[in-house]
Amino acid sequence: MSNVNSLIEQAQAALKAFDLEKHNVEAHPSREAVERLRVSFLGRKGVVTELYGEMRTLSKDDRPAGGKALNDLKTRVESGIESLQQKVNEWQLQQQLLRKVDVSRPTEGDHSGSLHPVTLIRREVLDVFRRLGFAVYDGPEIEYEYYNFTALNTPDHHPARDMQDTFYLAEQAQLILRSHTSNIQIHGMMRDRPPLRVVAPGRVFRCDSDPTHTPQFHQIEAFVVDENISFAHLKGTIDHFLRALFGQEFKTRLRPSFFPFVEPGAEIDLYSPKAGWLEIGGCGMIHPNVFECVGYDSERLTGFAFGFGLDRMAMLKYGLRDLRQLFSGDRDFLGQFPARG
Ligand code: FA5
Repeated sequence: MSNVNSLIEQAQAALKAFDLEKHNVEAHPSREAVERLRVSFLGRKGVVTELYGEMRTLSKDDRPAGGKALNDLKTRVESGIESLQQKVNEWQLQQQLLRKVDVSRPTEGDHSGSLHPVTLIRREVLDVFRRLGFAVYDGPEIEYEYYNFTALNTPDHHPARDMQDTFYLAEQAQLILRSHTSNIQIHGMMRDRPPLRVVAPGRVFRCDSDPTHTPQFHQIEAFVVDENISFAHLKGTIDHFLRALFGQEFKTRLRPSFFPFVEPGAEIDLYSPKAGWLEIGGCGMIHPNVFECVGYDSERLTGFAFGFGLDRMAMLKYGLRDLRQLFSGDRDFLGQFPARG
């Protein structure tokens, strides 16, 4: 019969040896070192397993005390291994991040970055409109149906709501992701009084996906409200801005179309030698019902509005085949664009 005290002493010595090894692994962390340590203590021929083997040699009375010492040892070794495994994971993650984000990398030369094509187009469009004396407005991407549809003369169950497949966030609260930037017309007109000359870029969302439709895309809205604003002002402004952006070899055409918040309404197509005709926006004279809704005098005031797809404009300007490239995060594709607008 062995002596239980000797087993307890061996367990204590094993724990000391484990603590020492653990310390060494912490100094040079690696998954392999942790696994080696685990096997040497808890494996089939490991120190702890072998000590358990010696329990057979204890007298029946000594076994509870011996068992307790070994169970303590085992629990402490197991939790020590677990904390080492966690440390190694954290350490490896840190190494990966350091490798990816090399903060010491020089920024000159090829590393100066580039602007996203939609950013380039947006800056150009805003420059043109600022020179025309337009103010730049912003509006919410998460929106009440009221501002996106109802106030824009699109009552409940109006078929026009189906024209744009909308993402609903909470049906009961009637919250949606806005499907166009025309909501900014309502916020802007409710807040400010005419005369208004406003341009408003932003992100919009629809359940759409094909080479010329993406579920998230960008529009730029423009609207003017004053006395004696006519369709000629609308056409003149659109022609001026598209010519400033695209030059003379691009042609434009207006096609009669329906949007509930304008009357008359039209769709705007742009022709490029590479891509042919592509629809890039909608426009029209602001509907009197919209003016009534925001508390304007629809007898005295008139106005025009239009909304363009910025991604479609980038597509034409840069000769892209598939709009989805713009959202791919592909650095080879994005890296072709200049760093400055
Ligand atoms: C509208 O969104 C109207 N709010 C435009 C408007 C404003 C009309 C003011 C009258 C007065 P439409 O659904 O046609 O209209 O979209 C406008 C433009 O957004 C399109 O011509 C197109 O260039 C772009 N577009 C529409 N859906 C997508 C999509 N899924 N992906 C990329 N671009 C899109």
